[in-house]
Amino acid sequence: MNTTTDFLPLNGTDYVEFYVGNAKQAAYYYQTAFGFQPLAYAGLETGLKDRTSYVLAQGKIRFVFTSSLVADSPVAQHAMKHGDGIKVVALWVDDARKSWEETTKRGAKSYFEPKTDKDENGEVVTSGIHTYGDTVHVFVERSRYNGPFLPGFTAWNPEYRTPETGLKYVDHMVGNVGWNEMNKWVEFYANVMGFSQLVSFDDKDISTEYTALMSKVMTNGNGRIKFPINEPAEGKKRSQVEEYLDFYGGSGVQHVAMATDDIIATVRDLRSRGIEFLTVPGSYYDTVLNRVGTIDEELLSLKELGILVDRDDEGYLLQIFTRPVEDRPTVFYEIIQRKGAKSFGKGNFKALFEAIELEQIRRGTL
Ligand code: FE2
Repeated sequence: MNTTTDFLPLNGTDYVEFYVGNAKQAAYYYQTAFGFQPLAYAGLETGLKDRTSYVLAQGKIRFVFTSSLVADSPVAQHAMKHGDGIKVVALWVDDARKSWEETTKRGAKSYFEPKTDKDENGEVVTSGIHTYGDTVHVFVERSRYNGPFLPGFTAWNPEYRTPETGLKYVDHMVGNVGWNEMNKWVEFYANVMGFSQLVSFDDKDISTEYTALMSKVMTNGNGRIKFPINEPAEGKKRSQVEEYLDFYGGSGVQHVAMATDDIIATVRDLRSRGIEFLTVPGSYYDTVLNRVGTIDEELLSLKELGILVDRDDEGYLLQIFTRPVEDRPTVFYEIIQRKGAKSFGKGNFKALFEAIELEQIRRGTL
């Protein structure tokens, strides 16, 4: 898309906010297991009455973990219905008011109208719109702000610190939507947010003997934001997207892909901290080089760690997927290193889905 016609210019992902049962413990998990650094805090001590939020950062990635202090609040209801899950995918913009106006006039349902919040560090303008399920997008305009996160948050400086694991930025975030809803949300991102479709997979691309899904990738004008949208497809058995929808209680964010410059070091570190990854059969590595050609990495290291490889016209990529990071089989992470490739690992889907099916059999949900 030509930038002169981009009615919703986006600078990148601003933050991702999770509504969780216990934000204090979630923050500890992301510090300890993923190497996120403490950044900001809001809660009773800062004047909030009904919620607590911890903000953590690594590279350009900012995660916010929020839990309710009362039984009956939107945060409590979200956590009860969905389990720990992503509520807000916040987008960094130059003009939050215009972002809200341009999207709502094209049909977006308002989450909240543009508002300006101030403290001693300056001011931030935010606005919000709804997307699939109970998920929302918040537009954040922060050019006149120098505080740690947003007005109302105080710097969080606990004694406890962990080394980072090499995570740099959010590469893409995938949404799972209900049966026959993929095209509706593809059109939402096209018409309401000015995104275009990057690649399309149909159910022949992404199916195993038992299960299937369909996926389309939507991207904004400058390519910094990529949102693949999945829906379940008919198979002999229950697909992983259907399992997600059942346990999440509807549509929501399925996984966040975080980029690293050294996936072997990052995954080795994450494994040593207790992060569990999906593993494909060892036979995957017998034939992978026939498919992807020469790569810089030692095949033995990739096999030892379970890292997958795929190639497209522009280069190759290395990727691996965690198991769900909460008790419900819902949200998980992808760790990705791009070496030219701009795609999403289509060549790995079959091997991966067979690995996921093995886990589903263990959960009794296939
Ligand atoms: Fe992905």
